[in-house]
Amino acid sequence: MTEDRADESRAGLGVAVVSGGSRSLGRVLVERLLADGWRVATFSRTANEFVEQTAEKNPDTFHWEAVDLADPERLRAFTRSVARRFGRVDLLVNNAGVLHQELLLTTTAQRIETLIDTNLLAPILLTQACARLMVRGGGGAVVNISSINAIRGYRGVAAYAAAKAGLDGFSRSLARELGAFNIRVNSVVPGFFESDMTANVTASNRERIQHRTPLDRLGTAEEIADAVLFLASSRGGFITGQSLVIDGGITC
Ligand SMILES: NC(=O)c1ccc[n+]([C@@H]2O[C@H](COP(=O)([O-])OP(=O)(O)OC[C@H]3O[C@@H](n4cnc5c(N)ncnc54)[C@H](OP(=O)(O)O)[C@@H]3O)[C@@H](O)[C@H]2O)c1
Repeated sequence: MTEDRADESRAGLGVAVVSGGSRSLGRVLVERLLADGWRVATFSRTANEFVEQTAEKNPDTFHWEAVDLADPERLRAFTRSVARRFGRVDLLVNNAGVLHQELLLTTTAQRIETLIDTNLLAPILLTQACARLMVRGGGGAVVNISSINAIRGYRGVAAYAAAKAGLDGFSRSLARELGAFNIRVNSVVPGFFESDMTANVTASNRERIQHRTPLDRLGTAEEIADAVLFLASSRGGFITGQSLVIDGGITC
């Protein structure tokens, strides 16, 4: 069987969990995974036209629930309903993230806690629940969406950066634990890309980012999704415990 055929057949049976699949990068991942023949389960805090239409068009292969990452019990219930509905999990993309920009000196303890809970604790708990299903199914892949804030200092994002750096460390360590179960764990480290999260970057900041980026532009969600899908596929079959930076060169 060629590599392509192997990917196709695994995708045909495979179940992918994508957190935050209603908009931006998560939406692109959901669309592309469904097009490649995966069954896809996703959640976000609120429904939108995209999830409603996708559920209508793909009644057997698409699952969406309203879940807030900040609620561990809802996260566990979500994983249970994915297991009930699809029976297995082969791919987890920890995509959902929350960015709040403010200097640490003025950020409330409550806000810091939420940033760590949603960007670090929730992906860890979701990974634990999905990895247990992957072990039962004989293997799988986890891709954590980090950020260049994890590897370079930027003002106003200290708690977010700490959470994303934590996610990279989590990926490396877990790769060592789960390799024996045929589960690969990697992180994708995006630079700035066009999405709802970056929609309100001011024109002058956008110019500054572009100026510091060798490729002189922001990335697209499609380009970040390319890296995620590569790591999820058999083409990335010998890659685990790594962080893949996709940033147009801004950190080089
Ligand atoms: N955009 C960038 O330039 C950039 C750069 C580096 C890294 N990243 C990372 O890339 C990932 C995707 O970013 P994006 O720009 O595509 O984000 P986005 O446009 O803000 O979309 C985030 C998605 O996650 C969901 N979500 C947010 N908070 C949630 C919560 N508390 N519980 C459940 N779902 C939640 C959102 O739906 P609801 O709002 O309805 O919940 C939405 O579907 C994130 O991890 C982000 O940190 C982004």
